[in-house]
Amino acid sequence: MLVGDSPIDEVLEELSLMYLSNCKVFPWHKAKPFLLTLGSQHKLYDKTVRHPMAMKFPLASAFVKTFIKSWINQVEDCEVLEEVYESFSAALTHIEPQIGYKIYTFDGGSHYHATKETVAMCSKGTTGLRTWQACLALCQWATDNNHIFKHKKVLELGCGVGLLGCVISHLCDKITLTDYHNSVLKAAQHTLDVNSVSNGNVSVLDWSRSCVEDDNLDIVVAADVVFDPTIVPDLVKTIKNKLSSSKDTDGSRVAYICSTVRNKDTYSTFLNEISEQGLTKTEIDSSKLKCIYLFGTDTIKLIKLQLKPPVD
Ligand SMILES: C[S@@+](CC[C@H](N)C(=O)[O-])C[C@H]1O[C@@H](n2cnc3c(N)ncnc32)[C@H](O)[C@@H]1O
Repeated sequence: MLVGDSPIDEVLEELSLMYLSNCKVFPWHKAKPFLLTLGSQHKLYDKTVRHPMAMKFPLASAFVKTFIKSWINQVEDCEVLEEVYESFSAALTHIEPQIGYKIYTFDGGSHYHATKETVAMCSKGTTGLRTWQACLALCQWATDNNHIFKHKKVLELGCGVGLLGCVISHLCDKITLTDYHNSVLKAAQHTLDVNSVSNGNVSVLDWSRSCVEDDNLDIVVAADVVFDPTIVPDLVKTIKNKLSSSKDTDGSRVAYICSTVRNKDTYSTFLNEISEQGLTKTEIDSSKLKCIYLFGTDTIKLIKLQLKPPVD
């Protein structure tokens, strides 16, 4: 059977991924054929509200409520599946409706990654308690270019809830997720725990404090850390410091920094600081930054940084 031009299972799979990631622009036009009979509603229900991952890692009930309301509104001449109403009632009883898991996959479902996130952009005075677009782009790029991380030791700056660290943990030898905000560090540790990541740890690293050289790393990664021009110098200084090591004589250490360019001036400040601090920058082709979870029109940039090769 086909829905539009795609086989039914493919469409159901896409709807499932959109639901699990709490997609705000759920493609109801694709879901509509599944709402025509109770039998096909059952299929959609099992792939969304009753998905085994969503049972294990409950989504924010505010999202579930909105999703079910839209489901009911979409159904015109057919009955709504009884279980859908039951799930709606269950979602009404949650004490913290704005907090719940988001579940992502970047390899077509071989690995799922669950992160407990807030719906709000900013919560407890930090933007780190939810996953940002540049992080999703970098998760996909890292998965598609997994050879880069093989047998490497990785350090993440400004890790937020820890999705990127969790994804890269499957690709690398060892990863350390760092941030400076207490609630964010706890959330990142929770992500490592619930996803059974055994080669990752969480540690405090504040860009505004001097940090020590680290002889035990190969790659630095960071997503969506360029948002405030006043902390850009400290951020670049930290990246430079982490790229420097007396043991890294051939300058093979690299940093991959992925950013959503919301404000061109802020991003320019970052690029200027990179050249002022003498780092070499290579921009990764942005056509390689596609990901099923990205919808907005914001520009996403990924750059690779290295210490400038010494001049002879
Ligand atoms: C927009 S969030 C991005 C979180 C995550 N990387 C993502 O993309 O989903 C920015 C992160 O940078 C962290 N951060 C901000 N200033 C920092 C500083 N001075 N030192 C370390 N981390 C900082 C915040 O706590 C937050 O987790």
